[in-house]
Amino acid sequence: MKLLTGMMLLFLMVSASHGSNHEMAKKIVATKCHLCHGMEGEGSSAIYPRLAGQHKTYLIKQLTDFRDGNRTGTMSEMVFGLTDEEIAALSDYFSSKPPAAHKVRDQEFAGVGKYIFTKGNRFSGVAPCVSCHGESGEGNEQMPRLAGQHKRYVATQLMEFNSRKRNNDNSIMHSIASKLTELEIHAVAQYVSGLK
Ligand code: HEC
Ligand code: HEC
Repeated sequence: MKLLTGMMLLFLMVSASHGSNHEMAKKIVATKCHLCHGMEGEGSSAIYPRLAGQHKTYLIKQLTDFRDGNRTGTMSEMVFGLTDEEIAALSDYFSSKPPAAHKVRDQEFAGVGKYIFTKGNRFSGVAPCVSCHGESGEGNEQMPRLAGQHKRYVATQLMEFNSRKRNNDNSIMHSIASKLTELEIHAVAQYVSGLK
């Protein structure tokens, strides 16, 4: 009985601290992030990445990279002054939201993307994306989820990895993106946007 009460107390404490972290995150999102990413991380337009269902460890890395100048762009200004605790709370908040898939209109084009995604391109030496990002683009704590992401954002990131405008990837994505053709970039972006 004592053990049970103790366990219940622990559970209440854990869920309460989770709740208050989400409250802290929600306040920041409502003032600083929702205009572009949406309250639930759904992404208010095709140029802003979806954050819903993205992995917590990956989000923490990106936000820290933006804050510390290792990834540059619009976001640097948005994360200015965020503490590690706030970054962790925001990452936990967005990772807990349900992801969603886009409707794919051009199935034939997405099929080209599916081939690249699952098989890579043995002629140019592109590794299959599935080997890191998972069978259905679900990712894991280190590898970002690609499933359901806006296609325009995915294509832009691939081009920026190639040009080294984005260079916080330990060169992994650079060496892959530098071997992709423009057709392959847009096809794979189309394909992953439809995954869930
Ligand atoms: C003015 C629009 C805007 C606002 C406001 C904004 N962002 Fe962003 N965010 C972007 C853009 C654009 C990108 C894509 C990266 C780039 O192009 O620089 C991005 C990228 C990100 C990424 C990287 C996603 C990935 O998949 O790698 C995270 C995480 C993120 N934002 C979180 C936040 C958080 C948290 C806030 C609030 C503190 C916020 N953003 C506020 C526009 C915005
Ligand atoms: C060897 C492992 C590996 C392979 C293979 C790989 N990736 Fe990645 N990818 C990563 C890692 C790690 C990151 C995160 C880099 C960082 O920390 O910013 C990433 C990031 C990305 C991003 C940025 C996501 C975001 O939310 O900003 C895109 C887009 C992407 N990869 C697409 C692809 C595509 C398309 C392929 C196949 C052609 C592929 N990747 C193959 C490891 C891999």
